[in-house]
Amino acid sequence: MSNLVAVLPGDGIGEEIVEQAVRVLAALKLDLELEKADVGGRAYDLYGHPLPKHTLDLAKKSQAVLFGAVGDWKYDTLPREFRPEQAILGLRKNLGLFANLRPAVLYPQLADVSTLKPEVVSGLNILIVRELTGDIYFGTPRGIRIATDGLFVGDKEGYDTMRYAESEVRRIAHIAFQAAQKRQKKLCSVDKANVLETSQFWRDIMIDVSKEYPDVALTHMYIDNAAMQLVRAPKEFDVVVTGNLFGDILSDEASMLTGSIGMLPSASLNATNQGLYEPSHGSAPDIAGKNLANPLATILSAAMMLRYSFGNEIAAQQIEAAVGKVLEQGYRTVDIYKEGTIKVGTSQMGDAVIAAL
Ligand code: IPM
Ligand code: MN
Repeated sequence: MSNLVAVLPGDGIGEEIVEQAVRVLAALKLDLELEKADVGGRAYDLYGHPLPKHTLDLAKKSQAVLFGAVGDWKYDTLPREFRPEQAILGLRKNLGLFANLRPAVLYPQLADVSTLKPEVVSGLNILIVRELTGDIYFGTPRGIRIATDGLFVGDKEGYDTMRYAESEVRRIAHIAFQAAQKRQKKLCSVDKANVLETSQFWRDIMIDVSKEYPDVALTHMYIDNAAMQLVRAPKEFDVVVTGNLFGDILSDEASMLTGSIGMLPSASLNATNQGLYEPSHGSAPDIAGKNLANPLATILSAAMMLRYSFGNEIAAQQIEAAVGKVLEQGYRTVDIYKEGTIKVGTSQMGDAVIAAL
């Protein structure tokens, strides 16, 4: 196992939040080698591509990628292949990072920051397992063409393809069942099997795989109902497994239960525990460079990196405990600030976590 970490801050607030995570890792004095490269809009400006070959090569040979965020409105008019988002999609696909773990955990100190009532969210601890390299995100064919069937023959139409291979569903199912085994042993598979063939296929495979995990209680929910239940009674959920598109939407929704998307880390893994670790939030160009962004999601992503790619559970828990401690001490960036707490900037939050380690 290599000890190389590719550090890819990307655009917007990426630079400043990743900087704090790197400082936290340095403070732990681990045997890691960090190498930085450009990605996203910044890489497009410098090299004409959001995922330049040297960045992709660095990511491929690294055990882990610590990723900030990509995107800025100024790139929205570029052809799709040059948009910053293609960098993260390209990394996921090229590294085969099919398993996306997005924990939504409410820190007790933040129960009153959520837009939901404290009694609805206190104690919340959900893990969303999102399939990340298939589904309509990557399915072909896709494009724009002249319709040759349906109600609008002769009209121009846009089209994408939702598809999942059996092995693809099986491998994410195993990840989700095994995660559930280590938690409350409840797995909810989310689909749209009342309408979509892909979803019925997904559901049948989930049921088949469940035979290997008799200790885990498997349930199924349609995506529309799941979106509703997630705000009605979020604590009913333990592990949620779902496809790429539904997982994208549900994980944003779940993040807000915890008060701020600025708190949520994520891990994207392949079969060799090579992983990409990034905050669940975006590049927030509106607050970039102002020392306002919350670095905790990125710092917590670094903890996930130590846990999943480097097998260092102790250091991971050290970081997580330090984050709990700074919240306990009352330090808050603007996104989680409430009267009576201590408002700090991005770098001061980094200082506080390092002091708490
Ligand atoms: C996410 C993001 C990405 C996605 C975008 C930036 C391509 O929204 O990581 O959830 O849709 O997967
Ligand atoms: Mn998303």
